[in-house]
Amino acid sequence: MPDVLTSTGDAMARKRVAVLISGRGSNMVSLIEAAKAQDYPAEIALVVSNRSDAAGLAHARGAGIATEVVDHTRFGKDREAFERALQAVLEQHRIELVCLAGFMRLLTPWFIERWPGRMLNIHPALLPAFKGLHTHERAIADGAKTHGATVHFVVPEMDSGPTIAQAEVPVLATDTPETLAARVLVVEHRIYPEALRRVADGIATIAAP
Ligand code: GRF
Repeated sequence: MPDVLTSTGDAMARKRVAVLISGRGSNMVSLIEAAKAQDYPAEIALVVSNRSDAAGLAHARGAGIATEVVDHTRFGKDREAFERALQAVLEQHRIELVCLAGFMRLLTPWFIERWPGRMLNIHPALLPAFKGLHTHERAIADGAKTHGATVHFVVPEMDSGPTIAQAEVPVLATDTPETLAARVLVVEHRIYPEALRRVADGIATIAAP
């Protein structure tokens, strides 16, 4: 049966998304795969890494996606100079939405305020629980019965913006941080594409201040 293109499935209407990574890029891959669907409202137009050795870059190139490296070490301690370079790259590629996916740089208000309601992050915990790093170790150490992942809008306070999607997994008595991380990663790969779809469709929005 021939595919039917509706106006919402029109490639012209898709939001141009940049995925920012620092390493493996498995969440980036889940977004790339989801965006292959004809009715997906976003296209992955660019992958940016702050590290030239990020494994995800090779996958993105193999998928025919434009990649850029903005090496933060070139800017020393000047975070805003790094972010101005990053912003310039995003503007050159006419990016409309930004997805942080294992992007290991803290962002300043200067940059975050350029993307209100247009920048998403995935965090491997049930926010507001376990903000910051080493979430799986901390969930086990705290005796948490459930753990999970959250996709949220990025606001200046770290790991604190409005939630777009969240999914729970059980914590098992036998779990190590690695086994728990693997269980969480499965739901990350499900909820990030769902959350991006909702934002690109205009269904999930950030409340105006
Ligand atoms: C994921 O667990 C994500 O939630 C966290 O960093 C990890 C990145 O993994 N922010 P990947 O690079 O997407 O595979």
